[in-house]
Amino acid sequence: ASTLGESASAKGRYFGTAVAANHLGEAPYAATLNTEFNSVTPENEMKWDALEASRGSFTYGTADRIVSHAQSRGMKVRGHTLVWHSQLPGWVGSLGAGDLRTAMNNHITQVMRHYQGKIHSWDVVNEAFQDGSSGARRSSPFQDKLGNGFIEEAFRTARAADPAAKLCYNDYNTDGVNAKSNAVYAMVKDFKQRGVPIDCVGFQSHFNSQSPVPADYRQNLQRFADLGVDVQITELDIEGSGAAQASSYANVVQACLAVTRCTGITVWGVTDKYSWRASGTPLLFDGDYNKKPAYASTLAALGGG
Ligand code: G3I
Repeated sequence: ASTLGESASAKGRYFGTAVAANHLGEAPYAATLNTEFNSVTPENEMKWDALEASRGSFTYGTADRIVSHAQSRGMKVRGHTLVWHSQLPGWVGSLGAGDLRTAMNNHITQVMRHYQGKIHSWDVVNEAFQDGSSGARRSSPFQDKLGNGFIEEAFRTARAADPAAKLCYNDYNTDGVNAKSNAVYAMVKDFKQRGVPIDCVGFQSHFNSQSPVPADYRQNLQRFADLGVDVQITELDIEGSGAAQASSYANVVQACLAVTRCTGITVWGVTDKYSWRASGTPLLFDGDYNKKPAYASTLAALGGG
């Protein structure tokens, strides 16, 4: 196969990218997206501030444009993200506990029902754990007012809203075995033991020289898979250039392919031009949509070429 999506598909995986609705009208952006990828994640358009900026009033238009673009071309869609401390409208943070619980469950239910049947996996809860050695939860309106049980409640609400969608917990700096991934691992293990609905864990995989692809990346993905959940690489980007970047991308693809339950890879953007890393070059296509060495190594690692 000659594209990322087709090559991944031949291995039983999807190969996706984050997409921003405001770039879909740029011809080379759309052409690269349509040719190479078979799954999309809206980069910002499904976040709480985009969908429910004021309480109870839902605005789906921009996210819907991405979903229809994907659906009309046979691409899958990942939903990102229902409950997150960031890009949260101010009104959510000023609610008391009872109202906050109602608002969280209503947001999950409304959004998942709107997209029912169109989203293969949802990031139900994003980035709920702290960095560092504590393994503790991160402070957020949900954590601070609802306590540890908010994650479990969000997943139960999500299952009821759309029983067919895969429900994921998603985080960063959990890509290797470390205190933070150990804390997520313990939560997933507990959920599986108690029958709390969870189907997948997303590993964002934002790598740079300070935080390179961990040597135990595959081992970490495998230990989560062994708990009985799928694993997905959800926001992959790797700072750098040339052969070093190419080799890191190949390592990530090989790790996913080595884990049967690693169901797909999403890179966090089509082109370096629009990466969230403002001056960085962490993606597979350069600012002029030329294929980088990392593209070739990724395609080869997927068995394409
Ligand atoms: O929409 C406004 C626009 O109206 C305004 O003119 C412009 C001026 O700055 O800002 C626009 O909003 C920006 C938004 O992206 C859309 O472009 C925000 O300022 C900016 O903060 C926001 O950044 C996003 C970031 O999440 C916010 O947390 C990035 O695009 C997005 O790539 C990034 O994605 C996150 C994942 O969701 C979770 N994991 C980490 C990942 C990288 O940070």
